[in-house]
Amino acid sequence: MSLRTAGSVLVVFLWSVTVVLGQNGWRVTYTTQSICTLKGSTVELTCSFRYPRGKVTTTFWFTEWGTGVEPKDLGQDPEYAGRLEYHGDKKKDCTLKITDLRERDSATYKFRFITDQTRGKYYGHPGVTLSVTGLQVKVTGGHQDKTLTCITTCTLTDNPTYIWYKNGHKVKEDTSSLDSDSFSDADSYSCAVKGHEDLLSPAVYGPRNTSVSVSPSGEIVEGSSVTLTCSSDANPPVQSYTWWYKKNGGDYQSMTGPQHVFNQIQSSDTGEYYCVSQNEMGTDRSRTINMDVKYAPKNTSVSVSPSGEIVEGSSVTLTCSSDANPPVDKYTWYFQNETFLNGCGQMYNISNFRSEDSGHYHCEAWNGRGSRNSTALMIIIPGKQTSVLTAAVGIIVVVLVLILCFSGFMWFR
Ligand SMILES: *[C@@H]1O[C@H](CO)[C@@H](O)[C@H](O)[C@H]1NC(C)=O
Ligand SMILES: *[C@@H]1O[C@H](CO)[C@@H](O)[C@H](O)[C@H]1NC(C)=O
Ligand SMILES: *[C@@H]1O[C@H](CO)[C@@H](O)[C@H](O)[C@H]1NC(C)=O
Ligand SMILES: *[C@@H]1O[C@H](CO)[C@@H](O)[C@H](O)[C@H]1NC(C)=O
Ligand SMILES: *[C@@H]1O[C@H](CO)[C@@H](O)[C@H](O)[C@H]1NC(C)=O
Repeated sequence: MSLRTAGSVLVVFLWSVTVVLGQNGWRVTYTTQSICTLKGSTVELTCSFRYPRGKVTTTFWFTEWGTGVEPKDLGQDPEYAGRLEYHGDKKKDCTLKITDLRERDSATYKFRFITDQTRGKYYGHPGVTLSVTGLQVKVTGGHQDKTLTCITTCTLTDNPTYIWYKNGHKVKEDTSSLDSDSFSDADSYSCAVKGHEDLLSPAVYGPRNTSVSVSPSGEIVEGSSVTLTCSSDANPPVQSYTWWYKKNGGDYQSMTGPQHVFNQIQSSDTGEYYCVSQNEMGTDRSRTINMDVKYAPKNTSVSVSPSGEIVEGSSVTLTCSSDANPPVDKYTWYFQNETFLNGCGQMYNISNFRSEDSGHYHCEAWNGRGSRNSTALMIIIPGKQTSVLTAAVGIIVVVLVLILCFSGFMWFR
């Protein structure tokens, strides 16, 4: 307990000594205390220091003190490996050069030095506040009348001149904004600061390479879940996606969103689809894709020809039709629920229809996806001609019998 108290007293004491020393010949002078500079560039933190007596043994720069007795030497930080050039002279120059600046180098940098004197340590307050910014092109305005502005996250020192590039070629050297009423969707624009022409902003351009992907890939089967996804290469990123589609020869309809999801795709969803993506710079459309929804035969039916009455001995053709994708590639014919051995075409011929051919007929249509039966069609030969003959004979016999009876009766009289 007493030891701990002694420790904190010592820390407080050292701190006050530092302050006192600072006022007695210990000093670090930073030429510029706040710097805003470009990502990728090199910065020099110009600095000088002095001390009353002794010999400097250690010098370094730091941004964080951390929990240690001494702050963390930037020279030991792997983040800065190969990017620090400390060209101080251990006497009075403490200038630090940082190359290939990154945005996360933004921090307050302070210089510390240690001499061979007892308690002869010092660091310069408040340090140099470094802000590292990238260049970015901001697009504002409407469809016809756009303005491009080259923006930074901090205000660049020295009021720089901006250079504008269109498709990589310099078009203007001026202020931070570019006005135009004739931007083309296909052009790309970027900006740079004069003197740092190699540090271009990312280019802005209208969407390009717009494409549609179908998931899952491969055959689209009715009832399955299918997702169409529209994607584009665009900067600024795509603002809106619009789907255009024409189902089964209908009119074009539209919907918005990057994805067109079919939870259970129907044969009626067959048609043409494309998407249009849009950002602040323009629009672009994908190629049209044909959605071809496959399904097993449905709506199978049997028709008979000739239509109308079927008489014994006539020839009858049965035709099976069905809606299927891919088209039906095989038909099976049934009579009274039993397979016809010789009927596997779309048409089934019965020449010389006889009374024992009367009954139920149905067909089964097949494609690679499955099969479907038609409802049964009943074919019978109506009222036989022979019975008419029998009736006529019967009538004649009755009439003859009556005549005979009548003549017999007359003769008896
Ligand atoms: C379009 O995108 C595809 C896939 O991402 C890529 O392979 C192709 O090079 C791109 N084409 C253009 C012109 O950018
Ligand atoms: C079956 O086909 C008929 C005529 O082609 C059509 O009117 C009917 O809507 C279809 N039924 C189904 C379920 O597809
Ligand atoms: C055919 O079979 C179905 C079901 O197996 C049955 O309902 C129908 O009555 C049968 N038809 C004939 C004519 O046997
Ligand atoms: C079609 O009918 C035949 C004969 O009745 C039967 O064996 C077959 O299973 C049926 N097919 C379907 C898909 O219902
Ligand atoms: C069935 O009859 C029709 C009409 O008489 C004929 O065009 C067709 O070729 C015949 N089909 C078979 C498989 O005999």
